Amino acid sequence: MIKQFVRDFQYALNSREHSLFTHLLPNEKRDRLAAHAAKYDNFVETGTYLGETTAAMSGVYRKVYTVEIHEELYRKAAARFAGQDYIRCFHGDSAKVLPEIVAQLDGPAVFWLDAHYSGPRTGKAGSRETPIEDELATIFESESKEHLILIDDARLFVGKNSYPTIGRLWKFVRTHSPYSMTVRDDIIRLYRDPERY
Ligand SMILES: C[S@@+](CC[C@H](N)C(=O)[O-])C[C@H]1O[C@@H](n2cnc3c(N)ncnc32)[C@H](O)[C@@H]1O
Repeated sequence: MIKQFVRDFQYALNSREHSLFTHLLPNEKRDRLAAHAAKYDNFVETGTYLGETTAAMSGVYRKVYTVEIHEELYRKAAARFAGQDYIRCFHGDSAKVLPEIVAQLDGPAVFWLDAHYSGPRTGKAGSRETPIEDELATIFESESKEHLILIDDARLFVGKNSYPTIGRLWKFVRTHSPYSMTVRDDIIRLYRDPERY
């Protein structure tokens, strides 16, 4: 019990430290996401926003799925990617839409979990700023246990505005899944095979 507490506390400290001292620019993040296409065919993004990451992953992954709750942002993305059959845009709360996306996957995927309230002209589901625990529960139940799950904005996981702390998130992950977890560069990574991330 004490050991676990120390581990959880270390996760929280690491997260704070990394978000303060390591910060990737949006293009650096997208380059890193694109690099995983060497080992995965499917890319699933929650929180489309302006579609910049979706666009950067198109033609890199064989299939790209993205979901956005804000109607206008969704409509713009759907229009932008119309005609590109390998990109599928979904509208709605990712907590509710993700099961439909996961059911369509034909193998392990890279998940980029980035759906969260981000200020004016973005959306959220009711009063909940992040659907992260529901998203993870869906992914953990999926047939494949070999996904690579990347959660952006680790610095926000401090137990406020419906975000769990990093320690609570780790507890959730280890009690509901076989995934390991690390935090680096403001990104939380859940993985099975260290060779694949
Ligand atoms: C940080 S932005 C996403 C940035 C984008 N992934 C990128 O890499 O450029 C977060 C987006 O998540 C959306 N969002 C918030 N809650 C959501 C939910 N429950 N389901 C789907 N999208 C959500 C917001 O409307 C916002 O557009």
